[in-house]
Amino acid sequence: MTRPKNFMNIAHRGASSYAPENTFAAYDKALAMGVDHVELDVHYTSDGQIVVIHDDRVDRTTNGSGPVSDHTLAQLRSLDAGSWFGPEYTGERIRSLGEVLEHYKGRLYIHLEVKARAEGLASRAADTVRGYGMADSVTVTSFWKPALEEIRAYAPELPTGWLVPPGQRPWDPSYVQQALDLGLTQLCPRADVVTPELVADLHGKGLVVRVWGIADEALMRRAFDAGADGMTINFPDKLVAYLKAKDA
Ligand code: G3P
Ligand code: CA
Repeated sequence: MTRPKNFMNIAHRGASSYAPENTFAAYDKALAMGVDHVELDVHYTSDGQIVVIHDDRVDRTTNGSGPVSDHTLAQLRSLDAGSWFGPEYTGERIRSLGEVLEHYKGRLYIHLEVKARAEGLASRAADTVRGYGMADSVTVTSFWKPALEEIRAYAPELPTGWLVPPGQRPWDPSYVQQALDLGLTQLCPRADVVTPELVADLHGKGLVVRVWGIADEALMRRAFDAGADGMTINFPDKLVAYLKAKDA
């Protein structure tokens, strides 16, 4: 198959197989692998700031406990977000979205997932992106359609992608028309539902196909070979090697 050499190898929460997810260490690891796209997740703090963390609680990935949204930014910054992964990462911090954008501007393309189902979060994230002059370096994604409706209305200059289907649900063909009606840039199917036929159909309708949920290298290869345009992946170094072998 001939395809352009711009496949999006997106380090999922950074190179999260090798460093604590959603930290500078994980993004730096991606860069060191030659990968310049990362995915990250955002939530609100109790004082209305936007922070980069996946879960709605801090328990799994820090030495703290409780909901992210019950903590101020200062409280979240004081937590250790690295030692759960390995002692060498002690001192890694939860970062605000602004800190991440400032630190990686010009070096990383960001796939920003609006994770918390909070009205206004997508728009405030867009304000932050605009504030750093990074509208050309961010795609906004979400499983939660209202966040995408919000961003389409508030920041139509930002590319958007809908993560579908959630959990282990089957593919729903109505996602395609819904994505087109909303004017989304990407449809982001779970990798295990992707087939060459589905990719061709989505491409024919003008949608970029960016997959997620890559559990292993076999699924990585299958999704690439189906013709997808990009994927989030915890082990982007394996994808670098595969793309090189394919001369892609
Ligand atoms: O690329 C999308 C993917 O990040 C969605 O899953 O659980 O990692 O947010 P999750
Ligand atoms: Ca995510």
